[in-house]
Amino acid sequence: MSKIHAKITAVEGYAPEDVITNDDLSKMVDTNDEWIMSRIGIKTRHILKGDKGPSDMAKIVVDRILQDKGISPEEIGLVICCTVTPDMPFPATANIVADKCGIKNGFGFDINAGCCGFVYGLTTATKYIEAGFVKKAIVIGAEKMTSIVNYEDRATCPIFGDAAAAVLLEATEEEGVGVIDEILHSDGVGVKHLHQVAGGSCHPASIETVTNRQHFIYQEGQAVFKWAVVKMAEVTEELLEKNNMQKSDIDYLLPHQANLRIIKATGDRLELKPEQVLVNIEDYGNTTSATIPMLMYQNRDKFKKGDNLILTAFGAGFTWGSILVKWAL
Ligand code: UT7
Repeated sequence: MSKIHAKITAVEGYAPEDVITNDDLSKMVDTNDEWIMSRIGIKTRHILKGDKGPSDMAKIVVDRILQDKGISPEEIGLVICCTVTPDMPFPATANIVADKCGIKNGFGFDINAGCCGFVYGLTTATKYIEAGFVKKAIVIGAEKMTSIVNYEDRATCPIFGDAAAAVLLEATEEEGVGVIDEILHSDGVGVKHLHQVAGGSCHPASIETVTNRQHFIYQEGQAVFKWAVVKMAEVTEELLEKNNMQKSDIDYLLPHQANLRIIKATGDRLELKPEQVLVNIEDYGNTTSATIPMLMYQNRDKFKKGDNLILTAFGAGFTWGSILVKWAL
């Protein structure tokens, strides 16, 4: 019997219309466009206003996938929502999205792997498909990062934005396309450098946690930078070696969008041409779990069947990883 593989058969992305510009930020904190562009590379970030959550953006992309593919919600066996900003602590945002989209015959859960969420989520869904557990899975990256941004902290407030993007993953017996291989890593040494102190069970919301602004992102930028600038390239080299591939075999790199300097350094170490390294950070900022599927959505028309895409990310945990996808469409 031939082996079952998982292939991406659709991708969609969405970002809310409202944006925050560098000039807007310069009215809130002591910063300016020149510093943000030269140190991070961001011009605008999108913001989801009001009491909406990641599930509202995710519903838009999942509905579009189902409609465009002519698939009934009952055919979806698994929904994974990768997010660090769930609608609420529980139930999982995946369950909320499934409910909003009429997906009733499957199961779903969230994955919190920081900015590496989508890489972890795509890997997890692939394993369920390869094991024959499900035939069709939706993997979503959806974040309302602006809900945990401290707009009094100039070191973090320029970085993050809101968006959602998702892929449909389907079982196939076709050889040589789809999600080929992956390597994932994590190291708790990163906990102290990048986290949100309050809102969990150790520090539930209280007047003190709110007053002390502990419900926001805490990041020691330089410590995170030093790891991120090395690890995405390193794990990609590891993945290439494992698959007997050369750097020149990569067609496109879809790197997590945290800092243009990190993205460029990763592309350079992998000896890629600038046009092979996909970038959208200038317009969207860091949308955490949504950066990679959003890049895939925006560039899908460039990809040819059989192209080697490398998806790589680094994030809170620390978590990092790299996936090799042979484009199937
Ligand atoms: O997505 C998850 C993974 N996250 C990452 O990969 C993020 C990795 N880290 C970074 O991207 C960068 O470290 C940051 C963008 C967060 C910060 O850039 P940096 O070049 O590392 O700046 P820094 O923290 O070393 O700060 C340099 C200076 C400081 O001033 P002094 O102490 O030299 O006087 C900061 O206070 O820049 C100052 N600064 C700012 N100045 C103007 C920090 N933020 C700002 C700002 N505007 N927004």
